[in-house]
Amino acid sequence: MSLVEFLSSLDSLAEQAQAAFASASSADALEAARVEFLGAKGGRLRKVQQGLGKVDKADKPAAGKRFNEVKQLVETAFAAAQEQAKDGGETASEAFDVSVPGEPVCIGRLHPITQTIREMKDIMGRLGFTAVEGPEIEDDWHNFEALNIPLSHPARDPLDNFYLGEAASAAAESDSPLLLRSQTSTVQIRVMEACVAATPAGESPPPVRIISLGRVYRPDTADATHYPMFHQIEGLLVDRGVTMADLKSVLRLFFQSYFGSDGEKGEHTDDMHVRFRPSFFPFTEPSVEVDMNWTDGAGKTGWMEMGGAGMVDPNVLRAVGYDPEEVTGFAFGLGVERICMRQHGITDIRDLYQNDVRFLSQF
Ligand code: DAH
Repeated sequence: MSLVEFLSSLDSLAEQAQAAFASASSADALEAARVEFLGAKGGRLRKVQQGLGKVDKADKPAAGKRFNEVKQLVETAFAAAQEQAKDGGETASEAFDVSVPGEPVCIGRLHPITQTIREMKDIMGRLGFTAVEGPEIEDDWHNFEALNIPLSHPARDPLDNFYLGEAASAAAESDSPLLLRSQTSTVQIRVMEACVAATPAGESPPPVRIISLGRVYRPDTADATHYPMFHQIEGLLVDRGVTMADLKSVLRLFFQSYFGSDGEKGEHTDDMHVRFRPSFFPFTEPSVEVDMNWTDGAGKTGWMEMGGAGMVDPNVLRAVGYDPEEVTGFAFGLGVERICMRQHGITDIRDLYQNDVRFLSQF
């Protein structure tokens, strides 16, 4: 027999043996396959081995070497099939105990800030405010200029903003720097601009009633009450005859609805009030700080600062193409984290962003 013939009979035997072991569906079938290929007397491997004697003498070492390799291969395939039958075969399924409790399924949940944002949208939606989004990378016009914040204003300081680009200080002085928005008031400008752009020439732009919720960025060092990224809710209402009384009513309704009735979120809302303190923002005139009062139900009360608000400055209305002789408006901006933390009794803002599920899964 030539070496080529011998080697090819070896290879086809190896293939058949591997296939037979792998497809054996029971312990009996596997044993039958073992006898067929590895049987000590009439096994096929044995027979091939006998053929070794007929190979030319010069080819014997190569033929013998390959025979040993194939024998090992077939034995290993058998052992593997045997092992698999043990793990997944009938015996293992018979031993399955249906009364053993399963692995608990871990269902995720919404981040507390996301929950707060959704609820705020819900409440303001019922008051007729449409939620809109704006970009987090802003230009100078929307973050400052159109909001009546002139070039000389300290709010533009490179130390107080995340300007984009290689040299932040140069960016702040360039013609149109880009930055991570430092406030959601930018969206007021974008919305009013879009309304004016959609208004046919000679007609008045439509009234506006929007909120915008999203991230803002300031280079603050993180501590219990500061974080370089946080969220704001911005509100804007522009129409004929809007007054500060409207602003106060909307804010009071908002806080009352958010903190629920009967102190659901730890507040007793019947006597929940909003207090305005005179303040200054370039884009509102007059401007106020907004405080919310709280009571712990045991007679203890206090005021807590929630954000800023005011009547939209005529300069802002003019900048975007609304006529301040025709319409007035109010605007407010509140911190989402502060409201969320107040609700849950969270005392350190950093806990919200460390992504420790043991903390977050409580809410
Ligand atoms: N943008 C202000 C801030 O981030 C908050 C604010 C104040 C928003 C007054 C307003 C507003 O809309 O009228 O500090």
